[in-house]
Amino acid sequence: MTFTQKLSKIFGSDGWDSLVAGVRRMAYPLGWRQFMKPIDREGLEWLRAQFYTPEERLRPAKYLNIEEWMKTSTKRIRDLRVRKAPPRMRILDLGCGAGYVLHIAKCLGHDVLGLDLGGDPVFDGIIALLKIPRITHTIHAHEPLPDLGAKFDLITAHMTCFNRRTDGSHWGVEEWEYFMKDAESRLTPAGRMQFDLNVLPDGRHMTDEVRAFFLARGARIERRRVFLPSRTAGR
Ligand SMILES: C[S@@+](CC[C@H](N)C(=O)[O-])C[C@H]1O[C@@H](n2cnc3c(N)ncnc32)[C@H](O)[C@@H]1O
Repeated sequence: MTFTQKLSKIFGSDGWDSLVAGVRRMAYPLGWRQFMKPIDREGLEWLRAQFYTPEERLRPAKYLNIEEWMKTSTKRIRDLRVRKAPPRMRILDLGCGAGYVLHIAKCLGHDVLGLDLGGDPVFDGIIALLKIPRITHTIHAHEPLPDLGAKFDLITAHMTCFNRRTDGSHWGVEEWEYFMKDAESRLTPAGRMQFDLNVLPDGRHMTDEVRAFFLARGARIERRRVFLPSRTAGR
């Protein structure tokens, strides 16, 4: 990151969003180390011996830097306001990858389900290690999600990639509209959703049209993150 980018991160809207997120998190302190304890260390070391390279930043092998990802995922859980059960929530994570967010939610007593492409040895290995139930499925535009059983109190997605078209461009309003209608039908009346979007080639996380679409549905948007309220929240 250049000096100018750093300054704009501190003083621009990104800086403001980080500040707001930081203040919100202060209201819900939660340590990450406790979530390391239930993990099978021997299994983890075996995976790390197979796939881990310390300088990796792009490929799934980076998720074997488990302490870093446990810290990140604990922040995500705090942002999602997922507290210790009861009440027990049913949580779905789309494109769950290694499943760390769900692992923490499970440790907090919630009922979790992941959905992902499957077939990546690092993601498959970590998901199995953490014993996270996962449905193997590829999300396509204008196609419903598969049968996922009982309705969810929370549907999340972090660093989404499923919203890419085959030509590499990102979903527009039409694709999101179809997807959201289907996802909403999987929610309990008080259920809510949160998406954390990957960056677009121009540095934004969503086009103005997609932003307006989410805002019209009552979303709170913090840079890359879109928090959608429940239907009972009176939007
Ligand atoms: C950048 S990774 C993020 C993983 C995880 N959510 C996280 O934040 O650590 C994107 C994930 O989305 C999954 N994915 C990509 N395209 C998908 C699609 N069309 N349907 C379902 N999952 C998809 C990938 O397999 C990968 O696990």
